[in-house]
Amino acid sequence: MTSTELRAKYIEFFVSKGHAQIQGKSLLPDNDPTVLFTTAGMHPLVPYLLGEEHPAGKRLTDYQKCIRTGDIDAVGDASHLTFFEMLGNWSLGDYFKEGAIEMSFEFLTSPKWLGIPVEKLGVTVFKGDEGVARDDESAAAWKKLGIPENRIAYLPREDNWWGPAGSTGPCGPDTEMFYYIGDKPCGPDCKPGCSCGKWLEIWNDVFMQYNKNADGVYEPLARTCVDTGMGIERTVTVLNREKSVYDTEIFAQIIAGIEKASNYTYGHSDGSAAGEGAEKDKSVRIIADHIRSSTFILGDPKAVSPSNVGAGYVLRRLIRRAVRHGRKLGMQTPMLSPIAKIIVEQFKGPYPELAENRDFIIGELDGEETKFMETLQKGEHEFEKLLPNLLKDPRKIMSGRLAFKLYDTYGFPIELTEELAAEQGMTVNRAEFDEAFKKHQELSRAGSEQIFKGGLSDHSEETTKYHTATHLLQRALRIVLGDHIAQKGSNITAERMRFDLSHGAPMTAEEIKMVEDIVNEQIQKDLPVTMVIMGLDEAKNSGATALFGEKYESQVKVYTIGNSPTDYFSKEVCGGPHVEHTGTMGRFKIQKEQSSSAGVRRIRAVLE
Ligand code: ALA
Repeated sequence: MTSTELRAKYIEFFVSKGHAQIQGKSLLPDNDPTVLFTTAGMHPLVPYLLGEEHPAGKRLTDYQKCIRTGDIDAVGDASHLTFFEMLGNWSLGDYFKEGAIEMSFEFLTSPKWLGIPVEKLGVTVFKGDEGVARDDESAAAWKKLGIPENRIAYLPREDNWWGPAGSTGPCGPDTEMFYYIGDKPCGPDCKPGCSCGKWLEIWNDVFMQYNKNADGVYEPLARTCVDTGMGIERTVTVLNREKSVYDTEIFAQIIAGIEKASNYTYGHSDGSAAGEGAEKDKSVRIIADHIRSSTFILGDPKAVSPSNVGAGYVLRRLIRRAVRHGRKLGMQTPMLSPIAKIIVEQFKGPYPELAENRDFIIGELDGEETKFMETLQKGEHEFEKLLPNLLKDPRKIMSGRLAFKLYDTYGFPIELTEELAAEQGMTVNRAEFDEAFKKHQELSRAGSEQIFKGGLSDHSEETTKYHTATHLLQRALRIVLGDHIAQKGSNITAERMRFDLSHGAPMTAEEIKMVEDIVNEQIQKDLPVTMVIMGLDEAKNSGATALFGEKYESQVKVYTIGNSPTDYFSKEVCGGPHVEHTGTMGRFKIQKEQSSSAGVRRIRAVLE
């Protein structure tokens, strides 16, 4: 059965059972600050599961594009994907456990629908705990339909409780359905849910009974609901007895595209065995998955561009990881957009937005790929500069701190530093790198918390540009008005910036123009913006500007705007975030210059 057939059959079945087919929604959820992407079919339906009336009625069905990045590092094995499609049906206060289970059973086993032999089917149900009793109702419903007790496993909350999708929302016990592909049990405890690899999960019926609120309390819902989810890719794999999701027809054209561009033939191994074939197969799978996710994110009506924050950051990570693996396979630039074109063609039927946004998808992928290739070249160049010194070490170990500096300053991935080091017969002190990385993460978290407390909860691309503009402005003011200029305050929104400076007199029109010109000149030069972490004293000694009277941690981030650590325009202690290159900022314009308080002037400026 193909994915197209499965999608159509599922919807047809539930429509025949009185469900209204509704449109799947955007991959970028509306008004939900708890998650970056739509992670399940129920996600856009949360308000209705919590009690609102749905205009299409009490029985709904759809297919929904989803992204889950929690397991991104597992992508490349037999079943993990970051992007997948989920089929679902919902009851909003209509049928409950028995009704849902009857319909699931009919769709799975009836020869008119999936035709899975009843003796191959097993289920798990919630075992119960202090809070909620064992789900005997679901077990009874399964038994009534012919599933014997020995194919029902009672499992704890970790296995048979679903949701909420973010940190709050509707949730409840669930019952999961498994297709058994073995001959005989692996042992006396071999039941559905067993990790022997013979029980393959295909569907999940969730019985929504609670809302987990912001205090972590489970409040009973006003009306009980059903939420089900069947992953298309996994189900197609199971029904066709394929080795992995990547071996289904869903990935055939995408992988053929990668094979053609890389001159490598996929399928040398199942991706789990050791050896070069296994590694390369895994790269093919990662590229296929990541380009598919990126294409769907960029093809969404609410698309984001690659950036350093939020969903844009995830997108950047997916694209860059795909490029890294593409390089491993010897693919030539542009390596992503030709594959994205295949994906748009393949999926534009069920997802017409992909064709509508085709040019945007291609433009963004090409742009990000080029940017990343530049980063890689710069990192390689820096590595070569370090090499003579590195080779002096008789132990042939590169310090993790140095590797971290390459990562932090040039965005050069640790895996590539390790590869370059290996070519020279060296290893990288990974423990030291990991430690520096962890410290950096804690520091940026502390930084963003501080920013948050200061009222700036927005890390969008626009506000990020204004952050960088603040640095350019401060330096330009010092050049034009003198070194007495100090920053007395600033305030940024996505639309404009405000900057308060210590200066006793109004600025003349000429001074304003000079400041604007200097800032715009730096923007036009497309200067790189880089960041290093150092001790506060070291930062001050290096000439970095810091806010007078501000309390800093002992380790601080220093942002430099310029071509090198010695040839730069601006250097400031700051929590970030900042753009990577000034060229993306637009045109800087001062709209207003006025008195703020005694000895302090206030500038209001925009990026056009
Ligand atoms: N929301 C449930 C899931 O994603 C159905 O498994």
